[in-house]
Amino acid sequence: MSLRPVADHRLVILSGTAHPQLASRIAGELGVSLMPMTVSRFPDSEIHVRVEASVRGKDVYVIQPTCPPVNETFTELLIILDALRRASTGRITAVIPYYGYARQDKKTAGREPITARMVADMLTKGGADRILTVDLHSPQIQGFFDIPVDQLTAVGVLSEHMRKWDLRDSVIVAPDAGRVNMASEYAGRLNLPVAIVQKRRIGAEKTQAAYVVGEVEGKRPIIIDDMITTGGTVAGSMDALMKRGCRPEIRVAATHAVLVGKSVETLSDAAIAEVVVTDTVPFDPARSIPALKEVSVAPLIAQAIGRIHADDSVSDLFGDRS
Ligand code: R5P
Repeated sequence: MSLRPVADHRLVILSGTAHPQLASRIAGELGVSLMPMTVSRFPDSEIHVRVEASVRGKDVYVIQPTCPPVNETFTELLIILDALRRASTGRITAVIPYYGYARQDKKTAGREPITARMVADMLTKGGADRILTVDLHSPQIQGFFDIPVDQLTAVGVLSEHMRKWDLRDSVIVAPDAGRVNMASEYAGRLNLPVAIVQKRRIGAEKTQAAYVVGEVEGKRPIIIDDMITTGGTVAGSMDALMKRGCRPEIRVAATHAVLVGKSVETLSDAAIAEVVVTDTVPFDPARSIPALKEVSVAPLIAQAIGRIHADDSVSDLFGDRS
């Protein structure tokens, strides 16, 4: 994907503190500089923000994944939106490459919240005119907003990387029923069969995989997912696949590398040949492992920003989901 620099002074890109590296990559792709902004703290830890130049009438894109520490990055985003709204910005797009709080998208028991909806309301009330995001945990979260939501997918970027692998005898594995559509998209692009693991969550870090649908014996599984958080889902899927006689050559592809808890130990398992993720969440060098590879979604997001700014269609960046 090549992008001509956007020589338009109305376009403004600015970054919160969650992932300045990704913001710089996106700005670099667009051929613009990041708008300077100061984010500081009052002694009691309250966040203060000041955009350091006029944004009156501009088309502003705020880059801020709501990744850990989720409550901090999300609150900071709301405060940035408020500052922009009060500065007479023309249009504000919240670019949220990783949309946190998305997994609570329905009630699974009485007296529980639906945080994915609550976050949508807060972003809209906070001043966002539109949202640009990548691989929401569930696509229907788009419907929680009454403002436009452009959901990009990293399946194309990750598939390009996976084409370099030896794909003989491979099978794409959906680690739970929620990932079947995504698995089909990978399978279609890579011309591979699909298997599905039936997953039951038995704790925040532990899942139980009851059975596998599809042929995996003697195959090299590629487990795909929207995110790796604690690694519990990958670990549970690996157990189930091994019990069904797959080869101990497992590869993993996921959009969001949230990587908390025991994820690094899980992904260091000798049976895992490679894990490919994107840079929607900042990479913590302390959690680096040899098997982990990162590919960038900056060119994809920059393309989308360029098109939104020019009022061009972004639907062909949505992958097979449109
Ligand atoms: C769950 O439905 C998601 O798609 C992921 O499978 C899950 O969030 C990954 O989390 P963990 O790595 O903690 O199992």
